[in-house]
Amino acid sequence: MRTRPLGPSGLDVGAIGLGAMPLSLGAHPTEADAVRVIHAALDAGMTLIDTADAYCHDHTDIGHNERLVRLALASWPRRDGVVVATKGGLERPNGAWISNGHPGHLRWACEQSLKALAVERIDLYQLHVVDPRYPLEDSVGELARLHAEGKIANVGLSNVSVPEIERARALVPIASVQNRMSPIDRQPLHDGVLAYCEQHGLAFLAYSPVGGSYGVRRVAHHAVLCHVAASHGATPHEIALAWLLAKSPSIIPIPGASRVESAVSSARAAEIALTEQEIRVIDAS
Ligand SMILES: NC(=O)c1ccc[n+]([C@@H]2O[C@H](COP(=O)([O-])OP(=O)(O)OC[C@H]3O[C@@H](n4cnc5c(N)ncnc54)[C@H](OP(=O)(O)O)[C@@H]3O)[C@@H](O)[C@H]2O)c1
Repeated sequence: MRTRPLGPSGLDVGAIGLGAMPLSLGAHPTEADAVRVIHAALDAGMTLIDTADAYCHDHTDIGHNERLVRLALASWPRRDGVVVATKGGLERPNGAWISNGHPGHLRWACEQSLKALAVERIDLYQLHVVDPRYPLEDSVGELARLHAEGKIANVGLSNVSVPEIERARALVPIASVQNRMSPIDRQPLHDGVLAYCEQHGLAFLAYSPVGGSYGVRRVAHHAVLCHVAASHGATPHEIALAWLLAKSPSIIPIPGASRVESAVSSARAAEIALTEQEIRVIDAS
């Protein structure tokens, strides 16, 4: 169920999406449990799923995460209400994470993603990372061609700076930027990327919004987040997500989940309204 009007490019700006990555990395859940997590997120009101071809064990199972998303959506009654965002531009040789922004690779990756997701057009296709071996114009130029061919409905960028966003926008409309942001990592507030997105109508997808695999415990024990959480009958993770939503109307946090409980908890955060005072206290922490 949508609770807010759609923003530019069909993205539910101001809502919370599901980051599907933990369903395919490390000791990930079984296929059946992964589908349960995705269904729980959608049931709880999420309308965006973020995935990538590279969310997999290694080069032998590229597209693992996208295939899980396809499987879950195949048995979901309201498919049309769900935006699927995927990414290309990273390879996984023997489990390593290696950028590949070669135009030929991006075209191949996009075509593989179309198959893995079983769609004719990808709602949002994001360049996962800028590859310093190739001019940004070459990588984004290929995404522009895929967009013109109708294989991509919207083009997004990830792990980018303001000058890189500007160079990309000179080639093709950019719908979104996906960079890391949480109460324990506020880089986009300082490097101008969030302000740029606000000014130019781009959605900002905040990844690792509850700290990522290395920061999630820090968030769980964060004194200020725990204090605010207590007064809302919420968890510190939920307060982290509510803080992100409060920081900008352009933000879509995309918390990851490998358990139903995490997905449901994260969806609940969209209902938490922090006071100005609470936001100030978290800002100052
Ligand atoms: N563009 C990029 O380069 C990039 C990089 C990293 C991530 N991402 C995207 O961003 C998404 C989120 O990032 P992330 O997975 O790194 O970090 P995250 O969302 O900050 O943290 C993920 C972990 O935190 C736990 N968690 C999430 N919500 C919770 C809640 N409400 N309560 C308690 N625990 C909660 C989950 O545990 P359980 O697993 O136990 O459920 C999950 O595995 C990814 O899934 C991926 O789609 C993109």
